[in-house]
Amino acid sequence: MAISRSELTPTGAIGAHALARRLGPWRPAGPRPAYAALADAVRVLLLDGRVSVGTAVPSERSLAEVLDVSRTTVAGAYAALRDTGHLQSRQGARSVLVLPVDMPAEPFDHGDEADVCRLNIAAPSAPDQVVHDAFRYALECAPAYLSGAGVYPSGLRVLTEVVARRYSERGLPTRPEQILVTAGAQHALRVVLDTLVSPGESVVVEQPTYSGTLQALARHRARVVALPLDTSHGWDLDHLESILRLQRPALVCMNPDFHNPTGLLLAADGRRRLGELSARYGVPIVIDETVVELGLDRAAPAPVAAFASRRAQVITIGSVSKTVWSGLRVGWIRTEAPPDPFAVARYDLGISGSVMDQLAAAYAVDELASFLPGRLDTLRAQRAVALDALGDALPDAVITPGGGGLCLWVRLPRPAATATAAAAVGLGVRLTPGSGFAPDGGLENYIRIPYTLGSDELRRGIDLVGRAYRQAIGSGAEPGEDETGLPGRLAV
Ligand SMILES: Cc1ncc(COP(=O)(O)O)c(C=O)c1O
Repeated sequence: MAISRSELTPTGAIGAHALARRLGPWRPAGPRPAYAALADAVRVLLLDGRVSVGTAVPSERSLAEVLDVSRTTVAGAYAALRDTGHLQSRQGARSVLVLPVDMPAEPFDHGDEADVCRLNIAAPSAPDQVVHDAFRYALECAPAYLSGAGVYPSGLRVLTEVVARRYSERGLPTRPEQILVTAGAQHALRVVLDTLVSPGESVVVEQPTYSGTLQALARHRARVVALPLDTSHGWDLDHLESILRLQRPALVCMNPDFHNPTGLLLAADGRRRLGELSARYGVPIVIDETVVELGLDRAAPAPVAAFASRRAQVITIGSVSKTVWSGLRVGWIRTEAPPDPFAVARYDLGISGSVMDQLAAAYAVDELASFLPGRLDTLRAQRAVALDALGDALPDAVITPGGGGLCLWVRLPRPAATATAAAAVGLGVRLTPGSGFAPDGGLENYIRIPYTLGSDELRRGIDLVGRAYRQAIGSGAEPGEDETGLPGRLAV
């Protein structure tokens, strides 16, 4: 079923300065016309969700002024976006960003997007047999639930029990009453923000961090404070302490278990320190454990909450999205005391989860030991393919795999990530540039390469990313020819 659309009312507007900041260095270095590169860069922002559908764009004149380009360039970019169905214009009103009308209801899988190589998504496909068995189990259990209303605002007991047991196995004794079921980790974060953070208050995140975290914070109108995270040195917790002392944020959000996008893992002493910081500064810390089970080179230490004293407030969020399948939409919040304050927001933000999905998730979490090792083997093999393909396509890039997770954080020889992602759109590849993982843009030297696609598509996509990079820097050189004068290095 295709979506039809009548004339759109803008849901918000973005000013010329804000759009210029998000665009980053979009200008083409080579012969590509500036209007086309600008249109590509705006399209990337829209498709990545960094500027929402329904946003009114600045006038041609104001954007041209701020970008220091001719008005014809902006007019040409807007015309190109209109041609591809990404911009809707009305006489006398600001144009609005939209998605093409004929984009089908499942844009990731069908229609015009079918051939697109989605290197912007780090989510594995489902383990077919497990999901099949999980829903058979759900159907078998269903009769016991059908006589009731089917509304369980805190989650099904059968699910909270297996989730609590998994925490206990990982070194954090947990009772089912400490678990609040949500519709995934992203939903869990929204519930936490709704409960603990007022718009305008500060929240600390790693930089880079998962783009969904940044989107949730932006939507919540939180003030984001970045804690730089470096693949060579990891988390600088002295720096975090100085932020806590000086800025007194309302919340800290951390992703210490195979961090997205770097794959880094915080060691046990860092976990202990996080607990101490939470207690000393009275600040709640959200630990996003979405990727915790995906240790490819080593397993994660016990959860941060296991290292924290009673005075600390560590809120752990988790999900079946990466271990099982994002399509299930089941996640949770774990707190030390029963999560009653969060239950109110969870109810407001969606009453209760689907009974069938929770039953299926309970089955899958209970069965984790039977299928996770195979999934980790597949991811290891795909990571090796990605590293190999990157070695061919971007031989001068620097890559430091973090030990687990789903992505490689790739340092390009030149700061051309946005232009590379924009050029990749033209080659049929979606790619998130480093700026998508930073609250205020920047990180132009980085792109994230997930290794969740099958080997052939992964290799093809990475090859095209190499081509997009060379287009972006205006080089006709073949990979391996030194375009930069910088030493070539692939740190594995
Ligand atoms: C670190 C992190 N947190 C949260 C999410 C979103 O998880 P979910 O699908 O459970 O909402 C992701 C998905 O990529 C992630 O990588």
